[in-house]
Amino acid sequence: MAAKLIKGAEVAAQIREELKKEVEELKAKHNVTPGLVTILVGENPASVSYVTAKQKTSHELGFYSIQDSQPADITEAALLALIDKYNKDPKIHGILIQLPVPKHIDSNKVLLAIDPNKDVDAFHPVNVGRILIGNYVFLPCTPAGCQELINRSYGDPKGKEVVVVGRSNIVGKPMVAIMIQKLQGANATVTCVHTGTPKDKLIEHCRRADILVVAAGVPEYVQGDWIKEGCCVIDVGVNRVGISEKTGKAILKGDVHFESCAAKASYITPVPGGVGPMTITMLMKNTVMAAKAAAGLIKI
Ligand code: GUN
Repeated sequence: MAAKLIKGAEVAAQIREELKKEVEELKAKHNVTPGLVTILVGENPASVSYVTAKQKTSHELGFYSIQDSQPADITEAALLALIDKYNKDPKIHGILIQLPVPKHIDSNKVLLAIDPNKDVDAFHPVNVGRILIGNYVFLPCTPAGCQELINRSYGDPKGKEVVVVGRSNIVGKPMVAIMIQKLQGANATVTCVHTGTPKDKLIEHCRRADILVVAAGVPEYVQGDWIKEGCCVIDVGVNRVGISEKTGKAILKGDVHFESCAAKASYITPVPGGVGPMTITMLMKNTVMAAKAAAGLIKI
């Protein structure tokens, strides 16, 4: 393997240590304890594991943290009422609804119901708009984690060709919005390719990329011969492709064919242990920001 591994888990651990100290200080100096509620509707196994990890981390950092699990058949009205309860709860600074929600619930309506100042996912249209105009407080956790990893490994993306594969509201679109900002750590030339891009064109774009961010949702989609020698590959995919007979645990694959891409790239994220731990860490960072803003310690 030629590429250096981007060890997201190590970067995440370092940022969490810093956050832990910040939480201790917030408690001691300002009597503020960051509060987070993660709301899970139903029992989707991937979602259960994500919220469990979010809860574990928030407890480790000393947050006041609640896991609110609701049955898959909760009505939309009941879910909206629950969100309203947390909007009004002064101990809660961050509200996260784990997505996806069941089909009978309109996810847009649900996201719109969250107080934008408690929207630590940055999915509320107010926060999406604030990112587009470059005046934001929260950044969506996964693309923010990718940005951090790019800057800490490959370096400043200013003037570089960034190609984003995928246009989801959670990763692809905000990744584009973050990378085009005229700000330190961004300022790149950005292309987004997606399911509407003819495959031959998609591959051509990937081959131009200095930095390739892949959130396609297809296991091992991007192949080594689609990438430029020396590029930086950020793999956002988490695909459960089977169960290991040895461990009984899910076998995870990214959206990038790791071996062939690692042979050509200069930097690459592993799956697991790359982007995943950063996503949770950015959620913690947003919650600390929300708590500080609620206490008037920063402006929002
Ligand atoms: N489902 C998959 N990724 C995410 C995320 O970043 N936030 C929430 N709330 N749900 C998700």
